[in-house]
Amino acid sequence: MQLSNRIVSMQASPIRKLVPIADKAKKSGKKVYHLNIGQPDIETPKVFFDALKHFDEKVLAYSSSHGDQELIQAMVDYYKKYDIEYEKSDIIITNGGSEALLFAIIAVADPEDEILVPEPFYTNYNGFSVPVGVTVKPITTSPLDGFRLPSKEALEKVITPRTRAILLSNPGNPTGVVYTREEIQLIADIAKAHDLFVIADEVYREFIYGDFEYTSFGTVKEIQDHVIIIDSISKRYSACGARIGSIASKNKALMANVMKLAQSRLCVPTIEQVGAKELYKVDPSYFKGVNDEYRKRRDLVFKLLREIPGVIVEEPKGAFYMVVKLPVDDAEKFVIWMLEEFSYKEATVMMAPAEGFYATPGLGVDEVRIAYVLNEDDLTAAMEILKLGLEAYPGKK
Ligand SMILES: Cc1ncc(COP(=O)(O)O)c(C=O)c1O
Repeated sequence: MQLSNRIVSMQASPIRKLVPIADKAKKSGKKVYHLNIGQPDIETPKVFFDALKHFDEKVLAYSSSHGDQELIQAMVDYYKKYDIEYEKSDIIITNGGSEALLFAIIAVADPEDEILVPEPFYTNYNGFSVPVGVTVKPITTSPLDGFRLPSKEALEKVITPRTRAILLSNPGNPTGVVYTREEIQLIADIAKAHDLFVIADEVYREFIYGDFEYTSFGTVKEIQDHVIIIDSISKRYSACGARIGSIASKNKALMANVMKLAQSRLCVPTIEQVGAKELYKVDPSYFKGVNDEYRKRRDLVFKLLREIPGVIVEEPKGAFYMVVKLPVDDAEKFVIWMLEEFSYKEATVMMAPAEGFYATPGLGVDEVRIAYVLNEDDLTAAMEILKLGLEAYPGKK
């Protein structure tokens, strides 16, 4: 029997595909510092678990396909704090930001249509596009200028009659880039001029390290019909396992059609929404403590990486990732070697090879993505192991 080309051509997640090798390393007695995945170690606010404890329905029923109305109201109130004016009917709750992304891509593009994405990008943008026949057209950005967007002319050159949308994460995974107001306006102008959707993945909205302004696409009034906002409680409230995200847009036709997808998958988990609505009511001061912690970690990892000979890294401004160029022949080989062959004090480090974060062949071969989601002691130990691993690696450049 034959499998579909679209599933066979889908790449395995570069973040997760090496997990069996890491599991083997752990079985052999090694401690593995996981810098490969954006799984924060920050405690989920207690209100989430308290809400679950007080859930006393006798039947665990389906929830509405639209989502729990109280949760949606909590999101409307949350968005207001950022001057994003959504009504309840503008928001649909999804199974994580992941499902929201898939819904958005299906809703705006047909097979053989194109979506522009600044690369390196969150690898699942490709993961979701390929199986539905949509092509990711990369807009290449570089660590050498802090992953800034290219000029209007360069961006417009990539647009074809099949281009349907621009998809970007801001703050960026894996780059940590935070786009300026001018860059957001540039994308808005292009979207308007070429009649494109903007799929704005803002799941890291609060993770900004520095005194600069953050501009959400939700605040660019003149293109609200084009804008689709993707959100999630996974990182925002350190609740990755709850699988609660959302898709929001002022475009009524889009949302009416996305609703068909929402109805066909029936609903998102009832109980998780009960906890999620309490999270969206958490006082914004919560983010200050979380940000202070991530900022310290960013500063620490950035400083330690800069001390390793041959390593090239730019200071990320947001999210909790960085793309790092290593002095190695092939980053995937190096990551596997670190898991299989190397240890220091019975421990090793796992990172995500960055090639899968690019659509342009050949880019990212000697790069990894590091997620600084561990505490400072663990990050210090992990950087020491990385440094020693690079010294010992036979494929050193
Ligand atoms: C940029 C970005 N968007 C979306 C997601 C999906 O998150 P979730 O499905 O857990 O909400 C992630 C997860 O890492 C992400 O980094």
